Order: sequence, then structure tokens, then C-alpha cells
Amino acid sequence: MGAVVILLSYLLGSVSFSILVVKKIAKIDIREHGSGNAGATNTLRVLGKGPGIAVLLLDAAKGAIAVGLASWLTKGNDWVIVLSGIAAIVGHNWPVFFGFRGGKGVATTIGTLLALTPVPALIAVAVTIVVIAITRYVSLGSLVFFTLIPIILLTQGASFVYIAGTFMIAILGYMRHVGNIKRLLQGTERKLGEKKA
Ligand code: G3P
Repeated sequence: MGAVVILLSYLLGSVSFSILVVKKIAKIDIREHGSGNAGATNTLRVLGKGPGIAVLLLDAAKGAIAVGLASWLTKGNDWVIVLSGIAAIVGHNWPVFFGFRGGKGVATTIGTLLALTPVPALIAVAVTIVVIAITRYVSLGSLVFFTLIPIILLTQGASFVYIAGTFMIAILGYMRHVGNIKRLLQGTERKLGEKKA
């Protein structure tokens, strides 16, 4: 049962809304435009606020739904719940329906963590918004978000499965942001609202 739920979560995560929404509206592949990332930030960059916010909400929803479904179907098996959230993020990053070329998992991670561990996730979202508002770097805010969650859970003495799971999610997030980290260090990262490729 657990493996089926995790597989379903991966398939749900593989529904890449930036690819679908941008294709529908502009008849283009988001992965060939802007940063080339299949995500909400790049949708905002390429098509503007409305589509960007829609993708953010839809991609976040699939993470939250994966966690909610796993919780319901397994009657609260923490390992399956956490692994289902991770599977949704993995699906978003490497989607089976789109040649395994997906996004960086930020919106899906936010949805997953809001469902998994709401209060730490809300705190991390608030800090992330402040970081983005001050620096205008969405990627930096995303990295702060990934990093904060396991730290908050550690300070709260949360269970091993939640700390290990959110640590893995942070590693996944860092892996997908290697290019952003390099650009941040070089001072060449795109700021929010900047369209240059
Ligand atoms: O949404 C992912 C964000 O952290 C960076 O996206 O397109 O600027 O590489 P992007």
C-alpha cells in the first residue's frame, strides 16, 4: 500500500503546471524561455503575474494533496506521508510525463511542507517573503526556505522521520539550485521582475 501511495504521489508531482499553463496560453515550452526552468518564477518572468501565481498555487497544491492523500490512505503512517511529499517534489523536478525535464520544486515543496508541518512552514514562508522582498532574488528566498525547515524542526525536537525527510527535501532543493547558487555568488542571478535570459 505504502509503495502505491508513494508512486501515485510521484505521478501527481509529474503534472507540471508551468509547462501546461504556458503551453495553453502562449503555445510555447516554458523550458525554452527565460531561465529555462519549469516553475512559477519563470512563468512569472515569461508570462506575468496572473499565470505565475496560478502556477505557484497549482504546483503547491499537488504537494499538499500528495501529503493529504497519503495521510488519509495510510491512516497516518509518518514514513509514507513524508516519502509521498518527497515523491511529489521528485515528480515535479523529474516529471515522467515531460521527458524528466521539470522544475526546481520550490512551489511543490511549499505545498508539501505546509501540509506536513504547517507552523514551521508558515514561519519559513514569512522569512522567505522578507528575504525576496529585500533582495529581489527568488532563488535566495527558496534556499532560505529549504534550509529553515529542518532547522526549525530540530529546535522543536520533532520526530526523526520529519527531520530526515525535510533534510532530504533541502538537499533536493540545493541540488536543483546549483546554477542559481553559482549566479548568486557571481552577482549575475536574475532579480524578480528581470527578464534577461
Ligand atoms: O522557482 C525557482 C526559483 O527558486 C528560481 O527560479 O527561474 O529564477 O531559476 P529561476
